[in-house]
Amino acid sequence: MKKVEIHPDAVERVKKFSINDSKLGFGKYVAPIMIQATYDNGEWQKFDLVPYGPLLLDPCSKVLHYGQEIFEGMKVFRQPDDSIKMFRPELNARRFNQSAKRMAMPEIPEDQFIHACEVICAYSKHLVPSRLGESLYLRPFMIATEVGMGIKPSKQFMFVIVASPSGSYFSGDAVKVYIERDDIRCAPGGIGFAKTGGNYAASLNSYDKTIKLGCDQTMWLDAIEHKYIEEMSGMNFLCVIDGTLQTPTITDTILDGVTRKSILDIARAENIEVVQKRLSINEVLEAIRAGRCTEAFVCGTAAVIAPISSFLDKDGTVTRFKEIPGKLGMQLREKLIAIQNGRAPAPEGWLYPVKDLSF
Ligand SMILES: Cc1ncc(COP(=O)(O)O)c(C=O)c1O
Repeated sequence: MKKVEIHPDAVERVKKFSINDSKLGFGKYVAPIMIQATYDNGEWQKFDLVPYGPLLLDPCSKVLHYGQEIFEGMKVFRQPDDSIKMFRPELNARRFNQSAKRMAMPEIPEDQFIHACEVICAYSKHLVPSRLGESLYLRPFMIATEVGMGIKPSKQFMFVIVASPSGSYFSGDAVKVYIERDDIRCAPGGIGFAKTGGNYAASLNSYDKTIKLGCDQTMWLDAIEHKYIEEMSGMNFLCVIDGTLQTPTITDTILDGVTRKSILDIARAENIEVVQKRLSINEVLEAIRAGRCTEAFVCGTAAVIAPISSFLDKDGTVTRFKEIPGKLGMQLREKLIAIQNGRAPAPEGWLYPVKDLSF
């Protein structure tokens, strides 16, 4: 593993940096340092901690034309003893490499990925907020930097991690979901399971439609039958039907969310029955009307869990829940936040302690 080289100007910058704002928001602030590494000649070169700043890119870099890029999103939490811990970083490291493989990009050994994350966290320790639900959000990403117009995989790449002290992505309000019956985002055999920009770019047209219609989130259905629930543009979907916690089975068109996985683990540990299956949107709507589906929620690293208040269909039909927010979703949200912030015992291996560096 290559040790990250620490640049003294980065340390000077971050030492002097502070944020005085009780409303951190999501992605509003970034730490004034970043990790940067390059891949060339078939291997990762140096990893550096440098001052945050613009990236120098040739206009013919492949990422700008063919979208060869991947990213991750993960969080670091302050603990009651003032230490800081990353939440399940090995899952992000693994997913990053799955995305890399699909996008013909080089993998980064898991220990190298986690070490780089740990270094930026350690030097940003004073920027990790301490209120419940707040965190330092890490955004590792990799882009294709080889210069040339040919449509072929790049041989050169840049890996970067930036860090953002963040509050909660959502204000806590319930979300209104627009059911996207026309556009599709990810087809089987495509790139849905990879965290790559193309999936998000494909969702933006529908985002505009969703907002214009007074909703907050787009729900994507399967590409073949336009019937089965997949996920939101940046979150997974769960609902409670007949007292069981149900969620679409992960396939190659759905991102395997760390939050979803953690919620299912917590639910199972509390003897809540978990059902993973193909969930038809019409069946869910019917179950809401029949009073069998009592709540639904979305989940992801940024938002943790946000309850769904209603679904808007293409023909204008609105299906609402009677009770918002639902009980189970809020219980799971509180439990997960308590685990992340060290207020409840964490299952083995969920919290990765960041080494304390005095500088
Ligand atoms: C498309 C998509 N689905 C689901 C998720 C939730 O994944 P996670 O819980 O790992 O953040 C995300 C967020 O990263 C996402 O972008």
